[in-house]
Amino acid sequence: MVQLTLPKNSRIRTGKTWPRPSGAANLRKFQIYRWNPDDGENPRVDTYFVDMDDCGPMILDALVKIKTEIDPTLTFRRSCREGICGSCAMNIDGINTLACIYGHDEVKGDIKIYPLPHMPVVKDLIPDLTHFYAQHASVKPWLETKSNTPQKEWKQSIEDRKKLDGDYECILCACCSTSCPSYWWNGDRYLGPAALLQAHRWIVDSRDEATGERLDDLEDPFKLYRCHTIMNCARTCPKGLNPAKAITEIKQMMVERTV
Ligand code: SF4
Ligand code: SF4
Ligand code: FES
Repeated sequence: MVQLTLPKNSRIRTGKTWPRPSGAANLRKFQIYRWNPDDGENPRVDTYFVDMDDCGPMILDALVKIKTEIDPTLTFRRSCREGICGSCAMNIDGINTLACIYGHDEVKGDIKIYPLPHMPVVKDLIPDLTHFYAQHASVKPWLETKSNTPQKEWKQSIEDRKKLDGDYECILCACCSTSCPSYWWNGDRYLGPAALLQAHRWIVDSRDEATGERLDDLEDPFKLYRCHTIMNCARTCPKGLNPAKAITEIKQMMVERTV
């Protein structure tokens, strides 16, 4: 397990302990980061008790139950409930992961939930991903072509299509970038594992005709070379992807084109 640092606005105090539900025999304690930009207070950690005999198996089920039955002010993102949209990414028990596919039974003891680390917080468990998305946009995540547009489609062989495996599955949840120490300290200039995995996805696409320009754009002491192969990104990715490998391959391509 990788123990991660706290969100950026984190002079955390002990918050409210909410009442235990009466008559419940199987209670678990949830300690959840709270911060409201509108109340002028420092962040706090609130304590909630959830009846696990009346709750679905995933952490997101418990969060929805808390919001519905205990504290409607608790704020978090979620959409698909299937590990597809990436919106419920948060730090659970020291691990960046997706609340909708992470089971309570994977956590021993009290369940501690924080926003993704080292990011500005919008409110409670919601990180501000504006910069993260701008970095994604900066790698031009679309097909760049110069040839005349074909009448029907840009064709790709089965072998070339396979080169996208391990990249296209990325759901841009930001778990990897926010677990990366290089990104914590240089996130303003280092693109981070998520954006670089996406850059790799377009660099290796056989239909793309801007490979040289894409590599030129990454030839920078910060954008690419701040990756020190620490591997937190691959360890934490809830989709089982390996951004560190993609980054290493981009570095290799940089070397190969100079020899
Ligand atoms: S590589 Fe994995 S952890 Fe990183 S953004 Fe994509 S899905 Fe999330
Ligand atoms: S391998 Fe690179 S991108 Fe991944 S966590 Fe380490 S420094 Fe960050
Ligand atoms: S709600 Fe979509 S990934 Fe969790």
